[in-house]
Amino acid sequence: MKIFLDTADIEEIRIAARWGVLDGVTTNPTLFSKVGGSYDEILTQICQITPGPVSAEVVAEDLEGMLGQGRHFSKLASNIVVKVPMSEVGLEAIARLAAEGIRTNCTLIFSSNQGLLAAKAGASLLSPFVGRLDDINQDGMEVVRELVAMVETHGLESEVLAASIRHPRHVTEAALAGSHIATVPIKVLRQMVHHPLTDTGIQKFRKDWEAAQSPAVTDEAVTLQPVAG
Ligand code: E4P
Repeated sequence: MKIFLDTADIEEIRIAARWGVLDGVTTNPTLFSKVGGSYDEILTQICQITPGPVSAEVVAEDLEGMLGQGRHFSKLASNIVVKVPMSEVGLEAIARLAAEGIRTNCTLIFSSNQGLLAAKAGASLLSPFVGRLDDINQDGMEVVRELVAMVETHGLESEVLAASIRHPRHVTEAALAGSHIATVPIKVLRQMVHHPLTDTGIQKFRKDWEAAQSPAVTDEAVTLQPVAG
């Protein structure tokens, strides 16, 4: 399963790239609002750090606006994928952009039927939002499982991208469900790296190594003081 970072923060992306685990990046207007600046410049920088797909989200809600923003983003770098929300207009935009050879990521998917439609319209990536479904007491991972089965059963060309990942267990479950990609915040990526037994194990090995480097205290090493008289 490929791992994308769910962020617009350049430093976070550099960290994941240095770890050798970064397959791509997803951004959205909320993530962009946390870093500010120019969205175009941030996207261009991200595309220079990773050769993997980088999702840039349209905010227009009308067809011409979506197409205009999508075409604009696609010219920033060859690895840009235009993120389009699931809607009637969104499907039309996905179909039109696909016809122009522009890859899209259909976002805000909350049912496998929505994902099926996005795949048929020509979306390269299908983003079911796992955490937001869990938040309202539904099984978000079930949408991932169903979509993966649909894609495999019918030989669809789209990839399932498990989004709205809240914790490391979501990543494990997405991988076991056969999701092609999971996009994770840096916090979850860091949680995946660490385990309390790993961290205490590293400390213990270091302490034992240091103890082995200091001279051992033996009976011979004790200097006897001469007895007076
Ligand atoms: C990614 O493509 C989504 O925009 C993101 O995972 C949404 O996550 P959230 O539900 O934590 O905002």
